[in-house]
Amino acid sequence: MLRELPAARPAVPAVPISQVDASGAAAKPTGMDELDRVLGGGLVPGTVALLAGEPGVGKSTLLLEAGALAADRCDVLYVTGEESAAQVRQRADRIGAISENLFLAAETDLAALLAHVDAVKPELLIVDSVQTISAAGIEGVPGGVTQVREITSALVSLAKQRTLTTVLVGHVTKDGSIAGPRSLEHLVDVVLHFEGDSRGRLRMIRALKNRFGPTDEIGCFELGEFGLIGLPDPSGLFLSRQHQPVPGTCVTVTLEGRRPLVAEVQTLVCPTAGNEPPRRITSGLDHARVGMAVAVLERRAGVRIGRCDIYAATVGGVRLTEPSVDLAVALALAGARTNRCLLPDIVAFGEVGLAGEIRNVAGVGRRLAEAARMGFRRAVVPVGTDAIPADLPMDVLQVADVASAIVAGVVGLP
Ligand SMILES: Nc1ncnc2c1ncn2[C@@H]1O[C@H](COP(=O)(O)OP(=O)(O)O)[C@@H](O)[C@H]1O
Ligand SMILES: [Mg+2]
Repeated sequence: MLRELPAARPAVPAVPISQVDASGAAAKPTGMDELDRVLGGGLVPGTVALLAGEPGVGKSTLLLEAGALAADRCDVLYVTGEESAAQVRQRADRIGAISENLFLAAETDLAALLAHVDAVKPELLIVDSVQTISAAGIEGVPGGVTQVREITSALVSLAKQRTLTTVLVGHVTKDGSIAGPRSLEHLVDVVLHFEGDSRGRLRMIRALKNRFGPTDEIGCFELGEFGLIGLPDPSGLFLSRQHQPVPGTCVTVTLEGRRPLVAEVQTLVCPTAGNEPPRRITSGLDHARVGMAVAVLERRAGVRIGRCDIYAATVGGVRLTEPSVDLAVALALAGARTNRCLLPDIVAFGEVGLAGEIRNVAGVGRRLAEAARMGFRRAVVPVGTDAIPADLPMDVLQVADVASAIVAGVVGLP
């Protein structure tokens, strides 16, 4: 069968890799520092990026700002399928995103969108949102999975043919996705997730996929009346800053990319009523890892917590899913169960194993330095850590397992 396949003459012959021109693959900064940090410097020309997020989180605001900044150096076309041009103009006035090189088209038809691209010849195309664009002759309903995938494929082909950097907005709902941006992830080069509690002002952006850069950085913004303000130093935002220590809380230091982040874990433990199954409610934490911390406390550290309802959450809407947060979760839960406060000004980090052991984590020195900078004076870290800076103004306690961390008086008096 294979022999019958006709061979076509390729448009570009294969060349030795050393002779391939890589200059086109350099990232161009968007001009929004927190966004560029997440992207690994900016957008490589011809990239197709999907910006996913729940309605109201601020996707349109982010892209209008980024579009206006990019318009300082190239033509930008913003296609709005959700709002009228006047509505977008109103937002642009409010957030100061007006530029002669930022072109706006209210359009929901793919063919017309392509005509706008032909007319404007932008270097950056923003489509808000991909779910609102439809095309005649494609099966399925506008916004449905089939159409959205076809539209995305067409825009990806366009971007690759013309080296047109393209950012697509994709809506996701709380329970995952409608006409799923998830099903588009493999079609695009970069997937960004924009998140934050829409009742609060804090917003975070992270890369779930990036063909041209890292996926472990987060960018932080504050969303206000005048748009998004980058927060290069977000550490203090994820602490509750209680004047008195409260039982059931513990501060930890995570490492998001290269950036250490000081954040607080809060827990509440109540005996489960009657024969009900115990409740396990988590917010901002890895649900399964909280469950493991509970089991380790019960079986390895003598804390009777298995028949209790457990609530565990982060402060300020931050998501802490790195294993190094385990120790803080375990100590917070131990404090909540025994109604004891941790020692004042203390941070804790380390991965907790099922044997109750505390495993080492990366970047200990950087985490400690950040905690010291934020005013913390004590730390509980995994044993065997050799990266503790000598001049650190902190008491650093190295512990081998959860039980000895509790015995060592970290979980203090009632
Ligand atoms: N006039 C305004 N003043 C202050 N904030 C506003 C105003 N209008 C909208 N917002 C905020 O901007 C958010 C909407 O952002 P938007 O970029 O439209 O989100 P998305 O595109 O993700 O749906 C709203 O949640 C609201 O909090
Ligand atoms: Mg929008």
